[in-house]
Amino acid sequence: MTSAALRPFSVLVTGGAGYIGSHAVLALLDAGWQVSVLDNLVTGFRWAVDPRARFHEGDIADEVLVARILAEDGIGAILHFAGSVVVPESVADPLKYYRNNTANSRSLIESAVRGGVRHFIFSSTAATYGTPDSIPVREDMPTVPINPYGMSKLMTEAMLKDVAAAHPINYGALRYFNVAGADPQGRTGQSTAGATHLIKVAVEAALGRRPEVAIFGTDFETPDGTGVRDYIHVSDLADAHLHVLDTLIADPARSHVLNCGYGRGFSVLEVLDSVDRLAGSSIVRRMEPRRAGDPAALIADNSRILATTPWRPRLADLDTIVAHALAWERTLAARA
Ligand code: UD1
Repeated sequence: MTSAALRPFSVLVTGGAGYIGSHAVLALLDAGWQVSVLDNLVTGFRWAVDPRARFHEGDIADEVLVARILAEDGIGAILHFAGSVVVPESVADPLKYYRNNTANSRSLIESAVRGGVRHFIFSSTAATYGTPDSIPVREDMPTVPINPYGMSKLMTEAMLKDVAAAHPINYGALRYFNVAGADPQGRTGQSTAGATHLIKVAVEAALGRRPEVAIFGTDFETPDGTGVRDYIHVSDLADAHLHVLDTLIADPARSHVLNCGYGRGFSVLEVLDSVDRLAGSSIVRRMEPRRAGDPAALIADNSRILATTPWRPRLADLDTIVAHALAWERTLAARA
């Protein structure tokens, strides 16, 4: 572990009380960084923020607040997780997504430039690709989002590209595939109620917290007819941010757009089988029609992040991801 005294500046994590952000906060702290968190607690939880971090409750678009945090906390890099993440909601309420994910990011980026922040890491998404022509998906393939969620993130990527060309700041845009699992030490996990993501939904069902799991589509052109996704462990993803930060610091002239995935996929049925095996459950499975906008298969080509950074997956195993998700769900159930 590196001493905090050796770190050149502090890191601001927006959305640090949320699912992925709270794991990134742990990874940064465990690596010796000094961390400040800015979160409005709309979907995040104050308890999810490790007490070693400095916590600020507020909005990323509050320019006065952000300017004060950047100056007082000595911030040199921002990891920007704050935003909205539910694809169907983005279809029903696009302006919410263009405000939270695009307009508010614009405000934060402007605050970063004004405050002399040199490095910016943005939570982007595989949803920027839309329905790819072929898999695995490479970063240089066309980005044609099929929902406002993906578009709201792609617009922020576009802003970062232009801003990095004009100002002394570089960025990493990390296109996450399907993030799942929980901290192996059980310190945090996915906690927001009303989840729609498959592994979260499945572990809730396994523990009797919901009656069944709907399978959205059994007629895809995949080996078993159900949707295939590249599930990445949230702690591996958090670790990727640390390596990207080091890479941005090492060469301030370069920015990076990087897929974050393992390069292999699992079907809905394979996920449910894994949950049943590990939980000793037999989840009630209800076959449903395809969900609007769901591609058959989405798998990352991760060769760019492997070539650009020293990051290597450590938890790339479906049963490990599911076991950690299950352990966290049991913690939540015990609290309720
Ligand atoms: C979507 C985005 C992803 C984004 C994430 C954020 C796309 C293509 N992907 O992931 O980029 O980061 O949301 O919220 O827009 N499924 C079921 N039953 C369920 C839930 C899901 O069968 O109850 C299936 C889905 O049809 C899909 C797979 O499980 O095949 C994964 O779905 P989900 O966990 O919702 O994530 P994505 O939609 O892939």
